[in-house]
Amino acid sequence: MSQPTTESLYLQPGRNLALELVRATEAAAIRAEPYIGRGDKLGADGAAVDAMRAFLGTVNFDGTVVIGEGEKDEAPMLFNGERVGNGQGPAVDIAVDPIDGTSLTAAGRQNALSVIAVADRGSMLDASTVFYMDKIVTGPEGIGVVDIRQSVAENIQALAQAKKVPVSDITVAVLDRPRHEGLIEEIRAAGAGTRLMLDGDVAGGINAARYGTRIDMCLGTGGSPEGIVTACAIKALGGHIQGRLHPRDDAERQRGIEAGLKMDYVYGADELVRSDNTFFVATGVTDGGLVAGVQHRGPIIRTESIVLRSKSGTIRRIVADHLVEKWR
Ligand code: FBP
Repeated sequence: MSQPTTESLYLQPGRNLALELVRATEAAAIRAEPYIGRGDKLGADGAAVDAMRAFLGTVNFDGTVVIGEGEKDEAPMLFNGERVGNGQGPAVDIAVDPIDGTSLTAAGRQNALSVIAVADRGSMLDASTVFYMDKIVTGPEGIGVVDIRQSVAENIQALAQAKKVPVSDITVAVLDRPRHEGLIEEIRAAGAGTRLMLDGDVAGGINAARYGTRIDMCLGTGGSPEGIVTACAIKALGGHIQGRLHPRDDAERQRGIEAGLKMDYVYGADELVRSDNTFFVATGVTDGGLVAGVQHRGPIIRTESIVLRSKSGTIRRIVADHLVEKWR
């Protein structure tokens, strides 16, 4: 197969899409900033949704929201199925989470992000009928080594071996929830450490797959939409992700089956998102391990974002200084 030339790489459709989309996550984070620590999570989310939608309308793409703010009758904007973008350019599926960590934002806690993930049209699994998903995420070393069907201890030992480190060096990120009490005990009994997250398992998954963080694995049950968003990022990072839907009751299980979803089935990265052309963009709302949060100082609002693109594998960090005056 012939190698792509610089020119052909440049002309790939959607090459600059993520760089345009970052303006939408920046806008959402900036508009959410006044709500940080104000106890109003609906207000924060509403401001972020409005801003994201307004900016998406200006971007050169033909997007269908596969993962949005819910069904049309519950969500006035960015609802599942809504068409976004200016209708020109690449046809894509888009998953939006204007704030992953609305409670974190309202409380003024760390790690809230504004997130967009994009993949070729028709390639994202629409798992919206089942709220929760069991997930396991690691970096590339975990491919073919860890498996959600294995025990926690087996996965930790296998990952430690693959990374050539003692088990005691392995740190597992887990959402701090009563449902994870047993899981947390198992991780510690296996000899690894935990990093408990109040919210925001998208950032947890990315930190598990990225080099240079203290997190090696992200485990546990979190939102299904967040699982798909994370999969877009993990494909760009070359990491490992598996997801298994976790219906809350028989009725939800039935709704999932009727929507064509497989229960008790382990979805791999290529089933969560079938395309190998994925983009992931996140801007910090509050400070976190992945990116800094919005800083509003004098005439400047500073944002930090991360942009991932699977075709190139490049991780870009974008720090932008926005003029307060322009955002009034
Ligand atoms: P929201 O900001 O949409 O509330 O999501 C935060 C989050 O922590 C996700 O990152 C995670 O996947 C999900 O909630 C976990 O759900 P729950 O809070 O019900 O355990």
